[in-house]
Amino acid sequence: MQVVYTGADWQKYWLNSLKNDKSIGLVPTMGALHEGHLDLVRKAKSECDIVVVSVFVNPTQFNNQEDFDNYPNTLEADLAKLKEEKVDFVFVPNTENIYPEKPQLSIDFGNLETVLEGAFRPGHFNGVGIIVSKLFNIIRPHKAYFGQKDLQQTGIIKRLVKDLSMNVQLVIVPTRREQDGLAMSSRNMRLSTDERQQALILINSLEKAKQELLTGKAWFEIQNQINHDFEEMPLASLEYFELIHPESFTRYSAFDANQKSSICVAAYVGKIRLIDNLPIIL
Ligand code: PAJ
Repeated sequence: MQVVYTGADWQKYWLNSLKNDKSIGLVPTMGALHEGHLDLVRKAKSECDIVVVSVFVNPTQFNNQEDFDNYPNTLEADLAKLKEEKVDFVFVPNTENIYPEKPQLSIDFGNLETVLEGAFRPGHFNGVGIIVSKLFNIIRPHKAYFGQKDLQQTGIIKRLVKDLSMNVQLVIVPTRREQDGLAMSSRNMRLSTDERQQALILINSLEKAKQELLTGKAWFEIQNQINHDFEEMPLASLEYFELIHPESFTRYSAFDANQKSSICVAAYVGKIRLIDNLPIIL
């Protein structure tokens, strides 16, 4: 496994792989790797000749400085995990290398900015759009792997690739969960024991709402009930719980079994912000 620190360094490996007609798969991450990330890596390994994992905590996508400052950094352990998975290259750039200057360009994802994460994290998707574009331009992968856990992120990256005619195929990998259902996240390691227990309200409320929707209960009643359930949890505070179309991300006010739908949730548990989602009709 080769660790590469700059785009210029990667260039020679890229030329070599091009010459040998090898397909390149990229798995972009911010490190603090868990089994969810490794599912993406394994999928990439099964489909591509060469797998590159990037590890970069991208400052421009954090709309909260405290969240950025406290983002876990476990590079040594990450490299050991990636070596175990027989990853070919790990791209670990530093901030000066990626952002020699503050970008002047900003990306507005239109309607996607006004709902869910777009509404609650102003500027977040601009930062994601910029870094993912940079990584695609530097690594030049044939395929890139993203997790369904960040459903709206997959939506904005699909938009980016389509609107800018980028020559990369996106692969979306299902959400990996802990045994009790909590979606794996790098932020989970910052939860206290009590917070970890109360964090289960995210998946429990998604599953409860799904079951009730499918048995015919009205969406507004379910939403009210879930709001109430969150109020009962002293450490959890709900930001949104929405029924949406999983590609356009438009909000539904009522459930229609003939339309694609997913439920998305975001909540603070203590100081940690967590998100999750569950498909209802695919
Ligand atoms: P990060 O949160 O590190 O996640 C990296 C990738 O792993 C993302 O595609 C994310 O959706 C996926 N992932 C995270 N948890 C997962 C889980 N439990 N199951 C399956 N996949 C999971 O998402 C980012 O980083 C950044 O925004 C990034 C795309 C790297 C741009 O900076």
